Amino acid sequence: MYNFDEHIDRRGTYCVKWDALEERYGTEDALAMWVADSDFKSPPAVVDRLVKRAQHGIFGYTACTDEFYDAFIHWMQRRHNFDIQKEWVTTTPGIVAAINFTIHALTEPGDKIIIQSPVYPPFFNSVKTNGRILVENPLIEKDNTYEMDFDNFEKNIDDKTKMLILCNPHNPIGRVWTKEELTRLGDICVEKDILVLSDEIHSDLILKGYKHTPFASLSKALQDRTISCYAPSKTFNVAGLSASVAVIPNPEIREKFINFTDSIGVHSLTVFGIEALIACYEEGEDWLEAQLDYLQGNIDYVNSYLKDNLPEIKAFHMEGTYLLWLDCRQLNLSQEALERFFINDVKVALNSGTAFGTTGTGFMRVNMATNRKRIEQFLNQLKTAKL
Ligand SMILES: Cc1ncc(COP(=O)(O)O)c(C=O)c1O
Repeated sequence: MYNFDEHIDRRGTYCVKWDALEERYGTEDALAMWVADSDFKSPPAVVDRLVKRAQHGIFGYTACTDEFYDAFIHWMQRRHNFDIQKEWVTTTPGIVAAINFTIHALTEPGDKIIIQSPVYPPFFNSVKTNGRILVENPLIEKDNTYEMDFDNFEKNIDDKTKMLILCNPHNPIGRVWTKEELTRLGDICVEKDILVLSDEIHSDLILKGYKHTPFASLSKALQDRTISCYAPSKTFNVAGLSASVAVIPNPEIREKFINFTDSIGVHSLTVFGIEALIACYEEGEDWLEAQLDYLQGNIDYVNSYLKDNLPEIKAFHMEGTYLLWLDCRQLNLSQEALERFFINDVKVALNSGTAFGTTGTGFMRVNMATNRKRIEQFLNQLKTAKL
């Protein structure tokens, strides 16, 4: 019913993944499998709604009406069993913006903020560029996957530690944290009075057999200290439309957040962002299920190809997201040489593991949200370059 095999040329569409190859990698002659957006066309219902809205022809200032809030709230209830009240929901152009708003609005310069590396690079930058102190609680690598280090997390907390930026599910290592893991983490946050920004941007990209747990849904105590961030951007490939939400049940925290965004002139979303979010959450569910099946096919293909042809390169186990964490440590290359190997010899643009922290040394991140042919091409080029 949906054709994820379709090849769509994205060059010349102001798309960072393909159009910025020369600028970022010094070559245009490479497969772009880096930035975390997909090469799939958004669901037909989304495209239709945007076309219809474009034809209206007037693009003035916007307001999010009940239809917008209902679309999001019903989605969260249906997909994640999380009951959200309308007044808890505030809009934000993006999740990275919301992380920075939160740091400004709710912490002070010199406060310590914990992140769990390897993790999405802007988590590091948002803390550091805002003059807060970064505390890393590295994940523990175990049997082709990772776990949280609860003891070290607790040990790292002192009087200056104010906030945790949680990646749930976790980019780049593909974990969908379990209810038990999040409960244990949450208990420490409550006991030590830690504010939590739970970045749940990947929460709809959950592979079969796994279940996303919204951190704030675990208890009233966590609800009261958590800012949860959601967006249709990754799931439905609408990141360029900048429509995200922050769910803030605690009225005092919410007021501080909104006062800050008001103070820097951040207001409503774009007209296309609003339309897209509604269409994704109201009409995108079948498409999402089909996409998840296709992604699983890509992952299975990579795993079996590597096993049969390149056993020294290992794909870490994926539970969610479309980002594959590739363990290249057995190639025995320095990180610089590994990066050069992929861009110059394999001719594929990936994210270097060290962009996610020093714990990413020896790894590369591959974006699997592309058609199977391109995945095959990537693997064939890798095999040829390796010989
Ligand atoms: C964990 C995580 N948070 C946030 C973002 C980006 O969010 P936004 O584009 O809404 O700022 C990404 C994109 O890759 C991500 O992986």
